[in-house]
Amino acid sequence: MNRKVHIKTYGCQMNEHDTQRMVDMLREEGYTPTDLIEEAGLILVNTCSVRANPENKVYSFLGALRPQKARSPELIVGVAGCVAQQVGESLLAREPLVDFVFGPDNLFRLPEMIEVARQGERRCWTDWQPWEGPVKEFVPEEWVEQGHVEGFKAYIAITKGCNNYCSYCIVPHTRGREVSRSSESILREAQGMIERGAKELWLLGQNVNSYAASPDYGFYELLEELSQLEGLLRLRFTSPHPRDWHNRLADLMAASPVICKHVHLPFQAGSDAVLKVMGRRHSRQDYLDKVRYLRQRIPQVEISTDLIVGFPGETEEDFQQTLDIVEEVRFSQVFPFKYSVRPGTKAAELPDDVLREEKESRLARIIALQDSINEAAQEALIGTEQSVLIDGPHPRIAGRWNGRTDGYRAMTVLADKLQPGELVMARVMSARGHWLQGEVLTADS
Ligand code: SAH
Ligand code: SF4
Ligand code: F3S
Repeated sequence: MNRKVHIKTYGCQMNEHDTQRMVDMLREEGYTPTDLIEEAGLILVNTCSVRANPENKVYSFLGALRPQKARSPELIVGVAGCVAQQVGESLLAREPLVDFVFGPDNLFRLPEMIEVARQGERRCWTDWQPWEGPVKEFVPEEWVEQGHVEGFKAYIAITKGCNNYCSYCIVPHTRGREVSRSSESILREAQGMIERGAKELWLLGQNVNSYAASPDYGFYELLEELSQLEGLLRLRFTSPHPRDWHNRLADLMAASPVICKHVHLPFQAGSDAVLKVMGRRHSRQDYLDKVRYLRQRIPQVEISTDLIVGFPGETEEDFQQTLDIVEEVRFSQVFPFKYSVRPGTKAAELPDDVLREEKESRLARIIALQDSINEAAQEALIGTEQSVLIDGPHPRIAGRWNGRTDGYRAMTVLADKLQPGELVMARVMSARGHWLQGEVLTADS
């Protein structure tokens, strides 16, 4: 039997993390991952349905597999992730080459699903799991002991699902209700990862800061406990929601040398009228107040964001208020998206009335503004000292090493020999596009 597996992943870090879990499970079953799709006997595609664009890519990907399936009928093809959860059974009808379809809640059954597929049964596995207990341990015990460490980085899912139902968003429909794991399980997973070489942990959740193991143990308490783990160099989290962002989180970040000074805090829209229809449950001013406090407590903090242009009913004046926030906050990164209708969401009932050209022009205006802000911000960092966690050597230039600053800016440094996972202090000498360039500071420099 061909036990080479190729996995294609779309979407967010939660999906990347789910893919890591799949790889681990399949290794246990004797599979080896391959980048070469043609040599695989098992192909999995982990899908994203947050916008039409990533969803359409899934169908093109599957279409392109037809010749391979025709050549090797024993090839098994499985579709995972958010598109799978959402469209379920109909994917089997639409794409005859697909052997099985499964949602994120069924991930842990992967070996069983493959077995059923090998026996020739085409099946859809999208039922929700009950996850027993008051805190829902959605990460199986074997995984807690064997958390996936990639080099020196590791992801930990602390919550799954989302209860916010922002009107445009498909995620609550594909990932289900929000569930938090116990802190005991998370801490044990983190500890094991550090013992196996993790130096940087990323806490993941669709709305990571609404984590709540009990009424008096929430995201703050968890972050505080994790930040004290021996051997951990950096702690990051994504994505927090502005409504659940409390100023004491900024206080905690300011006091901790381990919690990185970077917050990815999506604001989505600058106008209160649009925010209301989006169901974000925070105002423009709430957002700006929280950002102001963050900056006051941590002057060097880097803030990044997501936003949507062309939401139903968004006028030029509404859009101006989005531009104003981008101008005022001076984000380190902005991820702007054109509104995309997601069938089944509340906003899908509204007319998608901002013309495509108008959405494109608004997107271009955001990008141009952010580019100029970023250029100035990068220039302003020249001469500063940054701590850089090294990812690895520059792919082409010897003597250069790539890494990330505490604030999550990409930085390349000159040095003879460094190790991935090494933390160095470096002085920024120049800036080019999204990259800072610098020199490692030795003890006496
Ligand atoms: N949980 C995260 C967002 C996850 S989706 C949060 O609430 O912050 C990632 C981003 O995709 C969102 O922040 C939003 O900007 C964008 N997005 C989600 N649904 C969208 C849609 N229907 N059209 C366009 N962009 C969308
Ligand atoms: Fe979607 Fe809103 Fe939940 Fe984020 S908070 S995943 S945008 S519903
Ligand atoms: Fe996409 Fe699902 Fe993540 S819709 S953004 S893969 S939660």
